[in-house]
Amino acid sequence: MNRIIDGKKIAQRLKDTLKIEIENIKEKFKLVPGLAVIQVGNVAASSVYVKAKTKAAKEVGIRVFDYHLEDNISQKELLDLINKLNNNSDVDGILVQLPLPKSFNEQEVLDSISSTKDADGFHPINVGKLSISPKNDENLLIPCTPYGCLLMLRELNIDLVGKNAVVIGRSNIVGKPMAQLLLKESCTVTIVHSKTVNIKNICRNADILVAAIGKPEFVNQDWVKEGAIVIDVGINRVQLNEDNYKLVGDVLYDEVEKRASAISPVPGGVGPMTIACLLRNTTISCKTKLSVNRK
Ligand code: GUN
Repeated sequence: MNRIIDGKKIAQRLKDTLKIEIENIKEKFKLVPGLAVIQVGNVAASSVYVKAKTKAAKEVGIRVFDYHLEDNISQKELLDLINKLNNNSDVDGILVQLPLPKSFNEQEVLDSISSTKDADGFHPINVGKLSISPKNDENLLIPCTPYGCLLMLRELNIDLVGKNAVVIGRSNIVGKPMAQLLLKESCTVTIVHSKTVNIKNICRNADILVAAIGKPEFVNQDWVKEGAIVIDVGINRVQLNEDNYKLVGDVLYDEVEKRASAISPVPGGVGPMTIACLLRNTTISCKTKLSVNRK
């Protein structure tokens, strides 16, 4: 049986749970979680993501602090803003939409966000915690896209233990944390990337294949074992004509769908899960703040 993994539906369920949790926080503590969203410049895709994140946050009752900055601001100005937000007790999560313009040192910016307000889970302390913490640590700030992928896999109710998982892509945002999460589930994990020899053969052995390469429809049926579970992280805009584009994943859906036992679509797969997990991280940060203040 072939299953389409409905990310939109799973994300909505998570958002409904968060909304109730946030209502409870509001009633008990007379405050709501706050999320600062920073966009520098006007990359079209970033504007779309930021708008979607902001809208979803407001829907669950998170207060949004919106900063849309010109791309000619200096690194110091951005760091000063982050420092101010680090010290603002109304702000529980800080997100800097990536990529930043080339003039910025991205890692220095990410490092400057307080690790307790790290809504993306990109701070070195949280990256380290992800690699050494036990499974199911509820307070961890985990990168949103890979955690969303894991929630989708869990939704299938299959035993992940011992499964051969292959992650295509080695980015800090998706590939590496995805591998850590799958390892925690006791999968046998391989990361393949642009320099991997025999990449197709390695992928063809995967029980679970996570594609995060950023190349439209790159993974075709020859890369996929019959019955594999395929998670497509790619969100690529393909121009149809001067005015129109369509969104496609990293996986050639129409072909791979026939071989896979379960597959996530694009759109409506990983994208909504990433957003829901961002809201989850912000709520976790708020709850951690409240528990620290009560000690
Ligand atoms: N750019 C692409 N994905 C992400 C993400 O998950 N978080 C941020 N901040 N920027 C991104």
